[in-house]
Amino acid sequence: MKISPCVFLTLLPCLMTLATADPEGFNYDEAKVPRFTLPDPLVSNEGAPVSSTSQWQRNRRGEILRHFEEAVYGKRPGKPEALEFAITSLDENALGGKARRKQISVLFEGGGRPFAVHVLIYLPKDASKPAPLFIGYNFNGNHSVNADPGIHLSKSWMRKNENGNQSHRATDASRGTASSRWPVETILARGYGLATAYYGDIEPDHANGWKDGIRSYYKTDDNGQPLALEDWSAISAWSWALSRIVDYLETDSDIDAKRIALFGHSRLGKTSLWAGASDERFAITISNDSGCGGAALSRRAFGETVARINTNFPHWFNQSFKQYSGNENALPIDQHELIALMAPRPVYVASAVDDEWADPNGEFLSAKAAGPVYGLFGKRGVGVDQQPPINTPVGDFIGYHVRSGGHNVTDYDWEQYLNFADRHFGR
Ligand code: GCU
Repeated sequence: MKISPCVFLTLLPCLMTLATADPEGFNYDEAKVPRFTLPDPLVSNEGAPVSSTSQWQRNRRGEILRHFEEAVYGKRPGKPEALEFAITSLDENALGGKARRKQISVLFEGGGRPFAVHVLIYLPKDASKPAPLFIGYNFNGNHSVNADPGIHLSKSWMRKNENGNQSHRATDASRGTASSRWPVETILARGYGLATAYYGDIEPDHANGWKDGIRSYYKTDDNGQPLALEDWSAISAWSWALSRIVDYLETDSDIDAKRIALFGHSRLGKTSLWAGASDERFAITISNDSGCGGAALSRRAFGETVARINTNFPHWFNQSFKQYSGNENALPIDQHELIALMAPRPVYVASAVDDEWADPNGEFLSAKAAGPVYGLFGKRGVGVDQQPPINTPVGDFIGYHVRSGGHNVTDYDWEQYLNFADRHFGR
């Protein structure tokens, strides 16, 4: 098609705006980051300084946790009274003899309906017992983590009809499709076990997923108080079930439940941070490219913003979080305080340089700003002032790296997590 010069000149200002303006709801321009002051994790709600670890543990930690519950993620219910575990398969010679594979189901009732979270566990065959372990949710079913034909094929609803899924169900073609994100053999060779589960077993990841998830069946909170749907969120539901998996791991003598490192990527990184903050049994928490509503500071409004995430993924956060869309300064907390809730337990925040949507710099600044709480415990955080160069891990009790490449989980990321776990688990 030929465009006359006259039409082209009329369209030009419009085309220029399209080329230069940020798409609605996010910003990629550091110069447009608003001025802000971060809330101080070491000042109580009443404005009193928090200067001892006992003040932190007794008062301030709970205050911050409540803020996240009320303003962002919502509540989590307590441990169900009738929680059962069923071993559904055992293989002493999995992965060509390198691993022991267990598949277990965590079973509980919600409003009379049975719920099951299916957990795949690999343990190093020749390692000393009990083994320390990484745990993390997968996006596409346990069978996607490795091509091992012995892994049960998930029967749950799948979000995307890709990677072998058809009509929102897994098929055999989806086996092993996420294996590049799960270097099972490397993890085992380093002496760690791996436990993974599909987050969709708890609640399908879409705005109406609660109808088929535990939020519509589980009606009381931690203190036995009534729990309405809008009081919690999909992220709270998913994070709560991670704690139920730990309930199982604590019963398994092959596993060192005092050395559990919780890992999560992207939305599942947000979920891991909330789980690690809520449940101190996670000895290490790892956030991989978790971005907005995860490790990145909300007040920077860089990359994905609170407004954008609330619009696209309303079910992830509670109802109250919606009032902070475009109004981040009114938040009683910011995400550095979520990281601080891990203190004094080690925590790792990882970014990828091309993953601007997740605001790598905002993730770093958040990790750094959690440092004073670790300082209270005499522990060093990221240990640097500026975001480190690409592929240069830093930090002591707060680990951080920005990797080359985009939004993903790579062998490089795992290498850092294994090194970090070795260091903190004294291996
Ligand atoms: C979207 C979303 C992010 C999220 C990511 C993911 O990009 O905007 O907040 O982290 O999906 O989970 O893959």
